[in-house]
Amino acid sequence: MSNALVFADRLLDLLGGHRVTAALCTAVELGVVEALTAGERTATEVANECSTHAPSTERLLIALVALGICQSVGPTRYRLTDMGACLANSASHSLRSWALFEGKMLSHSWMGLAESVRSGRTAAELAGADGGRYGQMHRDPEAALVFDAAMANMTRLVARDLIAAGDFNSAGKVLDVGGGAGTLLVEILRACPTTSGSILDLERCEAAARRAIDAAGMRSRASFLTGDFFAGIPAGFDTLLLKNVLHNWDDERCVVLLANCRSALADAGRIVIAERFLPPRDYSSRSASTALGDLNMLRGPGGRERSEAAYCGLVTSAGLRVARRIPAGRYDLLVATR
Ligand SMILES: C[S@@+](CC[C@H](N)C(=O)[O-])C[C@H]1O[C@@H](n2cnc3c(N)ncnc32)[C@H](O)[C@@H]1O
Repeated sequence: MSNALVFADRLLDLLGGHRVTAALCTAVELGVVEALTAGERTATEVANECSTHAPSTERLLIALVALGICQSVGPTRYRLTDMGACLANSASHSLRSWALFEGKMLSHSWMGLAESVRSGRTAAELAGADGGRYGQMHRDPEAALVFDAAMANMTRLVARDLIAAGDFNSAGKVLDVGGGAGTLLVEILRACPTTSGSILDLERCEAAARRAIDAAGMRSRASFLTGDFFAGIPAGFDTLLLKNVLHNWDDERCVVLLANCRSALADAGRIVIAERFLPPRDYSSRSASTALGDLNMLRGPGGRERSEAAYCGLVTSAGLRVARRIPAGRYDLLVATR
């Protein structure tokens, strides 16, 4: 094959990326994945369980085999692969909610990416929506549920690395600033029995966070605080954790937020920032996921992914000192002190 043909072939696969998202989201949305968690099934059995059209269900199953989500067993039966099993609700590292988030929310929003690149404005700004992305969620509780559940999926996936890197055994009282539905705090407290803490987030997250705390039997060690982190951060915590929060905001807002953290921080306290750093001027496929995440920030909340140097710049602009950088799997931790 000529070089041009090889490149065109590869390009065709890239161009069809939306089909993959849609097929995976459909398998989750229709219950095909859940039907297969019980064991091998024929397409007709899956269709009966999911109330779908059997011949079309078989076509979906064949595509899922091609994508490595299912395996065919004999001429008529299908089962989930180990990767496909991660789409099930009960999987220890389930990405079920993330699949729905990509397929039902992000893929629609990304269709308007050209408008954001043309104007530098987010989807919410272009729609004239008050309060940006989180204001929109306040008015659309269903979308907020999808978003919070997806963040919980992603956070559970990386929690072990973050906890191993972050030394939370000696963290004292932790405040997870913008901690959403409480997934990370619960995992930290589970791993570190002498640590206690709270989640600070918008009212929208309160019910889910309280449910997570109760389900983990942690009412005596964890609580939820409703608040706007731009208005202020409550004092009395030794560790302020910010995971996937700063990347939502422009530099100016980040400095306000970090300065609020500084005012609330005990003298010997620390701020732990968990983000994915963009390698400076590394445009290779290694950094593709963070580079695409950056476009997601442009289209969504209006923030950006940043290099380590850019995060350090924000920290020092807020009057803080960068103490350490610690790699944590897919993430990096930046530890800041007064
Ligand atoms: C990208 S999510 C990250 C959630 C969580 N830290 C995680 O990594 O799973 C950002 C969080 O910031 C919260 N947030 C946004 N604006 C806020 C504000 N003004 N005050 C408090 N929380 C806010 C959102 O509700 C959301 O839960």
